[in-house]
Amino acid sequence: MRTLARAARPTNMSVMANDGKEPASPACSAHEMGDAYMGFLPRDELVAFLNTLLEAERAGARICQRTAREARDAGDENLAALMTAVRDDEAHWCAVLTQAIRALEGAPSSATGAFYEKAAAIADLPARVKFINRGQSWVVRELRKTLPRIRDDALHARMKAMLAGHEANIVKAS
Ligand SMILES: [Fe+2]
Repeated sequence: MRTLARAARPTNMSVMANDGKEPASPACSAHEMGDAYMGFLPRDELVAFLNTLLEAERAGARICQRTAREARDAGDENLAALMTAVRDDEAHWCAVLTQAIRALEGAPSSATGAFYEKAAAIADLPARVKFINRGQSWVVRELRKTLPRIRDDALHARMKAMLAGHEANIVKAS
């Protein structure tokens, strides 16, 4: 678990001393305080957040799969290759999120985000790719907002990697 000594992230700084540079006591019991008090997401909210991302990533994987197929049918091999690569990444994050939710003893959602239907309704492929990138930007915003509130080191690292992966894919699809 994330410890107070590394937790510059909590929004509630009352647990800090020395102008916030060091914890009041290095051995201070971060986990004796509630996650919410510390500014971290409580477990239920974290599971809900991860499930929201899971549904969004599933929608992303499905729309990229569909777009790759349609691009191939239209003879656009470059777009097909790009969408296949992004689909693989989205599927990877689905697996990471599912594992993380299970690790928290939560139930992974089997739903697909509404984003899929909205994107699929856009027949023009370049316009759809722009819409997909908007969806990816939403994921980036959500992760940037929530990362400071994820206490667990391993999960924090995975979500940081997911953020970086999305930022890179947005550039590739722009
Ligand atoms: Fe995504």
